[in-house]
Amino acid sequence: MFIADQFVGSLEVAQTPDKTTTPDNLNFYVDVLRGLSAPQKRISSKYFYDAQGDRIFQQIMACEEYYPFKCELEIFQNHSAELARQLMEGGSDTDLIELGAGDGQKSVYLLQALSRLKACYTYVPIDISGSMVAYLTSHLGSMVPDINVSGLAGEYLPMLQQAARRSANRKAVMMLGSNLGNMLPVDALKFCESIRALLNAGDRFIVGIDLKKSPQQVLAAYNDKQGITRSFNLNLLTRLNRELNADFNLGQFEHFPTYDPESGSCKSYLISLQEQVVRFCLQDRTDCIYFQKYETIFTEISQKYSLAELGKMAKMAGFEVIHNYYDANGWFVDMVWEAKQA
Ligand code: AVJ
Repeated sequence: MFIADQFVGSLEVAQTPDKTTTPDNLNFYVDVLRGLSAPQKRISSKYFYDAQGDRIFQQIMACEEYYPFKCELEIFQNHSAELARQLMEGGSDTDLIELGAGDGQKSVYLLQALSRLKACYTYVPIDISGSMVAYLTSHLGSMVPDINVSGLAGEYLPMLQQAARRSANRKAVMMLGSNLGNMLPVDALKFCESIRALLNAGDRFIVGIDLKKSPQQVLAAYNDKQGITRSFNLNLLTRLNRELNADFNLGQFEHFPTYDPESGSCKSYLISLQEQVVRFCLQDRTDCIYFQKYETIFTEISQKYSLAELGKMAKMAGFEVIHNYYDANGWFVDMVWEAKQA
């Protein structure tokens, strides 16, 4: 019944690009079909962010229940001067490398504080979205006097590698918005280790991450009353229909967020409301994915951590925690980690 594995195996010979098959959506197709052929169906949360997904995410950040964005914005509004001073302690030229910079709404406060200090630094925004990097490159100059921007579009680690290769400056890597929470904890630790491997002792890693808190509050943030997060999750299927010629019936799938207060794992699923077959038709072939009634597609993890867990992760990855910045409610933390001698 599942022919995705065969499909993946025969990809090399199946490439005859036409209007609907570019190398990019071929990778996308293989990844999605592989995920939907696994015993626990899954689709990576990185695929949320098409143009429509970007728009819905902006609405999520503005909605009442979604507290993480507001918390971190507050931290950057209130503590940027202190953070800027702390980052420039060493004195020498610094590359401030931001992973997943987006539109830089929060970082701009830090950049302005750095420029008030007349700090010598280059801002290196890294984002999967080339248009975001282009936007930052052309617009930051009008908001931050004398800023030096040198952005890179692409995936985090390869771009960070490139940034490390092209400059010998000391580095501060910044990953905000609880983006690290989108990885399973084991993968988050590996990711931090990879970052440490690209840094020198004394370099910094600034991690903005959502903390464990009232389970009701966490769950509500991923299940807002207006249904914005619901449409964010379901938009994945709209994207598969459009870009991969799938025929998901959106009425037959339901948004289902969960939160386990013990592990801190906040996971979202799409639930198949009936037994059904979904078809993907790309080029001359059709792939069928079978769903049992109530079968789940795991679409996102937004892991919440305790401070102790984060401290442990820092240590295991080769960092020392040197400072924590909180919002007034203590719901979110921006941690400054320093790379230790290996
Ligand atoms: C921006 C990835 C951190 O996981 O909280 C918001 C994305 N998903 N609502 C998060 C998201 C559902 C968000 N991150």
